Formats: sequence, C-alpha cells, structure tokens
Amino acid sequence: MVLYICEEDLIKFAKNQFHMSETAELKLGKSIYHLPILKGTENEKAIDIEKLREQTGFITLDSGFKNTGATKSAITFLDGEKGILKYRGYPIEQLADQSTFLEVAYLLIYGNLPTKAQIDEFHHQISRHTLVHEDMKKFFDGFPSKSHPMGQLSSLVCSLSSFYPESLNPHQTPEELDLTIIKLLGKMATIVSWIYKKSLGHPVIYPQNKYDYVTNFLYMTFGQRTEEVHIDPVLVSAMNKLLILHADHEQNCSTSTVRIVGSSDCNLYASISAGISALWGPLHGGANQSVIEMLEKIRNDGGDVDKWVLKAKDKNDPFRLMGFGHRVYKNFDPRAKIIKKACDDILSKLGIKDPVLEIAKKLEEVALSDAYFIEKKLYPNVDFYSGIIYRALGFPTEMFTVLFALGRLPGWIAQWKEMREQEEPIGRPRQIYIGENTRDYIPMHKR
Ligand code: SDX
Repeated sequence: MVLYICEEDLIKFAKNQFHMSETAELKLGKSIYHLPILKGTENEKAIDIEKLREQTGFITLDSGFKNTGATKSAITFLDGEKGILKYRGYPIEQLADQSTFLEVAYLLIYGNLPTKAQIDEFHHQISRHTLVHEDMKKFFDGFPSKSHPMGQLSSLVCSLSSFYPESLNPHQTPEELDLTIIKLLGKMATIVSWIYKKSLGHPVIYPQNKYDYVTNFLYMTFGQRTEEVHIDPVLVSAMNKLLILHADHEQNCSTSTVRIVGSSDCNLYASISAGISALWGPLHGGANQSVIEMLEKIRNDGGDVDKWVLKAKDKNDPFRLMGFGHRVYKNFDPRAKIIKKACDDILSKLGIKDPVLEIAKKLEEVALSDAYFIEKKLYPNVDFYSGIIYRALGFPTEMFTVLFALGRLPGWIAQWKEMREQEEPIGRPRQIYIGENTRDYIPMHKR
C-alpha cells in the first residue's frame, strides 16, 4: 500500500518558493510514504515532516534537536564543516573588519545594510531612548550587591514590559514594533552599564547622546561623573568587533528560547528575558566566564596544561575544556579565529601582558594536536578567547556573559521578528511517554 501526502499539499509546498526537488521515501511496515524534501538557498536539505504524525501516527525523536530544523530563516547562515558564518549573506570576517555594531544590528533586524540616512535615523531614534525609567532604578537597589549580573539583566529586561505596556500587544503595527525594538536596543546598553556600576557601589552614569552607541556604552560603564572621559578608540574598536561577532548565530539554545517564548504571543521584552536566562548556562553563553575561571584555575595549579587536557578527556572526570567544542562547528569557529587575532592586537595596543592568554594559547596548541579532540572535532569556540579581551578592556569576569547578551540582542530581536512575520504556530514539541501504564489510586490506609 503506497500512501502519498496529498497532492495539493505537495503543490502548495512547492509554491513556498522552496526548491522542492524530490521526495524522501519512508517505509513503515507494508506502507510507503513520500515526504517532501526542501533545499535552502545554501543547499541545505531537509525532509519536511509536518504531516508525518497525521499520515503515519509516528513522530520523530531527536534529543537536543541535533538533527531537527525548527524553522526556515533568512537571517544567519552557518556551515559547521567549513567554518562559515554569514549575517544576511555578508561574511562575518568582512563585517567584523569593516562594519559597526549598530550597522550590523540594523542589517540583522531589517535585512539589508543601511544607507547613511537610515543609520543616522536609527542612531537618532535609539539615542532618544537610552534613558531608563527612574522607577526602574529602584530595582537595581533591590538586588544583593553580589548577585549575578545575568539574573539582574533577565529581570530588568522583563520589567521593561511593565513600563511600556503597549509592548504587550502581540499584534503591534510595524511602526509600533519598531519603537518597541528601538527602546530595547537603547535601554539595554544603559541597563548593562548600570549593573556594572552598581556592582562596584558606584553611582550610575547617564547616557550622553553625543556619543555613538558603543562609545556611549563604554562611557556609561567606565566613565566618571565628575570629569570628561576620554574613551580610547582602541576600546571602542575592540568592543564593536566583539559585539558584532556575538550578534547572531541562527537557532542556538537562547535564540530558540526567544523564538519559542515569542510563539505563544508573548511580548518581545519577556521573550528576550527568557533568552538571557538560556544564555546564562555555562554550556552556552556562560562559557566565556567559565573559560577564564578555568584558565585561572590552571594557572593557579602551576600551569600544567597537559594535566588538564588529560582531565578533559577522562570520562570519569566531570571537567571539560570550556570554550572548546560546538554543536555545529566541526571546524574552527570563524569567530574564535577573529577574536584570537584581536586578542594579540588589543593587548599589545593596551600594553597588557596577560599570563592567562599564554595558557590559553598553550591549551589550544596541546588540545588541537591531541587525538581525542581531533577525532571529536573539538575546536576553540567564540567563548575561548573573548573573555581575555573583555578582561583587557577592564570588565570583571561575571560581566562577560552580560556582554555576550548585549551583542546577541539584535540577533534575538531579528529572529523573534522573523518568527512573528512568518506567523509560525506556537512551539509545542511532542514526546514518547515511558512512564507507568494505567493504575488505580490506592487510599493512604492501604499503601
Ligand atoms: C556557545 O549553538 C551555538 O551556536 C552556541 C554559540 C552561539 O553563538 O550562540 O556558538 C555560543 O554556546 C558556544 C559553546 C560554549 N560552550 C562551551 O564552550 C562549553 C564546553 N563545550 C561543551 O560542553 C560542548 O562542546 C557543547 C555544549 C558546546 C556542545 O555539546 P554537544 O554538541 O551536545 O556535544 P557533546 O556534549 O555530545 O560532545 C560530543 C563529545 C562527547 O564525548 P562522547 O560522549 O561522544 O565520548 O565530545 C566531548 C563529549 O564528552 N566533548 C568534550 C567537550 N565538548 C564535547 N570533551 C571535553 N571538553 C569539551 N569542551
């Protein structure tokens, strides 16, 4: 018995402008099913199983979604085997070298590089929304002084929905949504810098709209209220590069979180807040903090890199080489290559010698020549060197993941906006139940 997915579905599917070249044949028992195959613009292929359960009663199972596509997206392309990363078609190497973070944010969110007039208007609009509501300042005072910056950031970003209730409307007009986006981009940098200031017990510094986006952030973070601050252009250039490199990365853990939370018609601020929480994990964005903590532990332990590589390979040892390995990249993370080079440039320009950088380079050299890492295709990822630059710029380790979130913000926004524009259904995965079969209730006196 050969069952086909009904003809009109296939034709409708083909009209989705996807190159449906052929179908996949699935044999279940005596039945054969033909499932559409789609090909993306970079020749990635997928078997479309949207009708699978309806036609066959089967679901697929894929813990960690290692083989499962959640969506079709036009924002970022990764090729893990070749170590390729492109934002809206532009290679990350060119953007990191020639663009600015605000320009990349515009590119990710609106799909094309802005004209001069467009980027000037974008900056003008953002600069009008850099202030945080004075009532929000009380929230900063409410956090214990040593509370982790990521927990503060997630809470504070979600609280924006209380101050801007118009953002709660899931059906905002494009103009209303643009304003919601502008407010978030503007206020996030202020919130991040104020979290840092509060951690030092210092007074916060208000934004100065004469500065560009990144300079303003560094001014609020490292400036002093009393004197005119000279923000070193080396720091501005390094910060732009780091933020660009973190700006998006297709369907990673935190972006998938933002999309699935947004798919319930939840507002942008709460969706981004959820993404910040997902990024906090040391297996994800929290790795940049864990890398420095690991390198310092190795240094304090005498710098015996070989000993720690052995530990990382030992199945019975929970120690992992933080900043190494990636779900998608089975080659060098192109961002890690750029950051590694930037490390040397920035530290020499700032006249900083960081012993932890030397340990990182030795660790990379030993690991990359070790059969275990070669066989498992474990390479340094974006988090391996980024912390060294953040440290050189003057940030404390606990602020590193917050800086990752600041960089990832435009990517999260772009992905959330795309999910809404594509009118995707609420995300609701299925499961295979492995619990008890039906059994009758036993009254307490009989247990
Ligand atoms: C980010 O997805 C993204 O795009 C994320 C990100 C982004 O921009 O959004 O790129 C940012 O999160 C980068 C990753 C930061 N995390 C770390 O650096 C933490 C250390 N790395 C690992 O925990 C791990 O590599 C992951 C979490 C990154 C990926 O894990 P996977 O894909 O689930 O792979 P796995 O854990 O199944 O590992 C496969 C094998 C295992 O060995 P076996 O069980 O097959 O024998 O490789 C081993 C692992 O034990 N392995 C490591 C290792 N990473 C994987 N062994 C030692 N050290 C490591 N770091």
